Amino acid sequence: MEKRVYIRTYGCQMNERESESLSVILRNGGYEMVSSEHSANIILLNTCSVREQAEAKAIGKSNLISRGKNREKLVGILGCMAQNLGEILCKKSPNTRLIVGPNRTEKIPTYLDQLLRDKNRRIIDIEMGSIDRDFAAAHDEKKIKASMFVSIMRGCNMHCAYCIVPKTRGPEWYRPMEDIIHEIQWLAERGTKEVTLLGQIVNNYGIQQMPFMDKKSPFVQLLEKVQEIDGICRIRFLSPHPKGFKFDLIDAYGKLSKLCPHVHLPLQSGSDRILKAMRRPYKVEQFSSIITALREIIPTISISTDMIVGFPGETEDDFRATCELFDEIKFDMGFIFKYSIRPGTIAEQFDDHIPQEAKEMRNQILLQKVEYYSRQYNESMIGKVKEVLVESHAKRGEQQLEGYTPEHKKVIFSGTEDLIGQLINIKIEQYGASTLFGKRV
Ligand code: SAH
Ligand code: SF4
Ligand code: F3S
Repeated sequence: MEKRVYIRTYGCQMNERESESLSVILRNGGYEMVSSEHSANIILLNTCSVREQAEAKAIGKSNLISRGKNREKLVGILGCMAQNLGEILCKKSPNTRLIVGPNRTEKIPTYLDQLLRDKNRRIIDIEMGSIDRDFAAAHDEKKIKASMFVSIMRGCNMHCAYCIVPKTRGPEWYRPMEDIIHEIQWLAERGTKEVTLLGQIVNNYGIQQMPFMDKKSPFVQLLEKVQEIDGICRIRFLSPHPKGFKFDLIDAYGKLSKLCPHVHLPLQSGSDRILKAMRRPYKVEQFSSIITALREIIPTISISTDMIVGFPGETEDDFRATCELFDEIKFDMGFIFKYSIRPGTIAEQFDDHIPQEAKEMRNQILLQKVEYYSRQYNESMIGKVKEVLVESHAKRGEQQLEGYTPEHKKVIFSGTEDLIGQLINIKIEQYGASTLFGKRV
């Protein structure tokens, strides 16, 4: 029986990480992982629901691959959209035979065995349940890279009015600290130098379940433990939430040498009125004071964010406040999202929706700001020698490699393959909107 699987991943880093664990348990279950859908007889789409467009893309894809000469292929939809739509997906994507939510991914090898045996069956599993500890830690030993993702938790307990994630991922669940440390040690022994700790709100890790120690939250205690791991040179995390970004975490930037000088802190709006309507439990002033405190410790720290434009009721004044805050903070990187109504969320009930053209215009304005401040930041790096973790060949150009500075700025430079996985010094000579160019020194 053919058992060749291709996994296509949409959505956030959490999904990427889960696709990686899934490929390990599939291989252990006798499946072969292939790198193109043409050579696979099983195609699994690990999907995202965060915006309507993300869902439409995955549904379009599932319908495309299950037509014509691909008819025989077994198509499965996994991840957040499977959880969000469940049975509805049977209508939207009639040839899909496997629908599994993100909390049940570890069951997929068993389900595929059953589906291969019985061609007329369809399996839907969107139970919430707890997550298997071994599944959460699984990495493919042959594919360990210099920079790896490590999930430290799942789910979200917040109720942001626009967001589908609490519905698709369920309540917060924290991995035991010793599992995380053990996983990172295992990665470090195999050449990993940088880890990015993942969670919907990483600074909520262990909250109310694990004790504070010396006024330090469980998340900061975890960072301190990762700092001690030999071989790990850089620590990153995604995403913290402004609400729990307290002094213990701010201080960590001054104390933990491996913590990278970059923070991705989602703001969503620069208007207190809109933040309140979004049910984001902080004010602009609190957000700004976190940034000020971080810049006192590391003046050149890179600050990136997520913003939503066109949330219901967002007036020109609200948007102006967002622009002003953007100019004040000078985020050097940002992801700008046009508000998308998500079924079942609180904001779905709001009636003061913003016309598409206004969303489009606000989106463009913020994108221009991101580019402007990103260029400004990049310009300030010209002439500096930066430590770069070399990750891969660059997409274009022979003998061109790419890697990241501690601030998470991509650098392209000439070099040979043997440098991949190493930390080297690069003198920055040129810059574009989102990339730096330099020379090895
Ligand atoms: N847990 C993270 C966010 C995860 S979702 C946090 O709270 O910071 C990633 C980003 O998608 C969010 O920060 C938000 O900017 C965007 N997003 C979420 N729901 C959205 C929606 N309905 N429409 C547009 N953007 C949305
Ligand atoms: Fe969504 Fe808010 Fe939770 Fe982030 S904190 S995942 S935006 S509900
Ligand atoms: Fe999307 Fe689910 Fe991640 S909705 S952003 S894949 S948590």
